[in-house]
Amino acid sequence: MLAEISAGLAANHAHVSPKFLYDALGSRLFEAICELPEYYPTRTEAGIFAAHGEAIARAIGPGATLIDLGAGNCAKAASLFPLLQPAQYVAIDISADFLRESIERLQQRFPRIDMLGLGQDFSAGLDLPASVRTAQRLFFYPGSSIGNFTPDEAGAFLRRARAQCDTDGGLLIGIDLVKDSDVLDAAYDDALGVTAAFNLNLLRHLNVLAGADFDVRQWRHRGSFNAAQSRIEMHLEARHDLTVHWQGGQRSFQAHERIHTENSYKYRQSAAVGLLEQAGFQASEVWTDPQGWFAVIHARAIGN
Ligand code: AVJ
Repeated sequence: MLAEISAGLAANHAHVSPKFLYDALGSRLFEAICELPEYYPTRTEAGIFAAHGEAIARAIGPGATLIDLGAGNCAKAASLFPLLQPAQYVAIDISADFLRESIERLQQRFPRIDMLGLGQDFSAGLDLPASVRTAQRLFFYPGSSIGNFTPDEAGAFLRRARAQCDTDGGLLIGIDLVKDSDVLDAAYDDALGVTAAFNLNLLRHLNVLAGADFDVRQWRHRGSFNAAQSRIEMHLEARHDLTVHWQGGQRSFQAHERIHTENSYKYRQSAAVGLLEQAGFQASEVWTDPQGWFAVIHARAIGN
């Protein structure tokens, strides 16, 4: 982890993986983002689940092995339990302590579902223990987190998920769609500055993880839509010339120089379906909101 952070900070165009946004405070700040009027994805996706939950459950069928990728507070999966009736719930998240608390609460609400929490960084590889059932595996990847990958990385990731499914397996994924750039810009640079706090908190986390000496006050948040790449980019921008040290390295930043902290790709619906098909899934149904801002797609594993 230190090597990864160090290499990114020292690179010509400095960058840090967005997975480091999620320490305990970062996970809570992300929950707060989901409450913001500007941040439409969570609300829009929840609206799709509410409007089409029965159709979604019908497409999937009861008794699934629900594998939640980036479960966070587990609220999205929990809202589907009554309709979906999974046999097993496997929650995976890089923020292990936050996940443990969420799972404990959930197990009390749904004592009959077998639950398992895995504190893992699944972006590098999907390593499922033997206690995860092989029957009817349904990878649940909501919230458009797939957008953090480049399209090539996303394809590779989905192929790895496909490889972990039998032919009765599938995927239920939420994908944010391309829309007016004013809507996108506001969603990632909100009036209250919660997204700014979320992004800046990464520096505090790096101080812990890499023994760095970032002074948060020396940096500002940038978040906006890059239409040519069809992605939101978040950066942290130095307010003035400064130097940062960390375990095994140091670097000077000039005023306005940036650290790239996140991409959030936005897809057209046809491109999203194409991405799944190239990874060995067949999109069986696509549900969207009335404005066409967000898509929830159920896809079945197809033969190799
Ligand atoms: C959790 C990756 C889906 O890209 O919208 C929210 C993260 N970053 N605001 C997103 C995020 C800034 C979020 N994902």
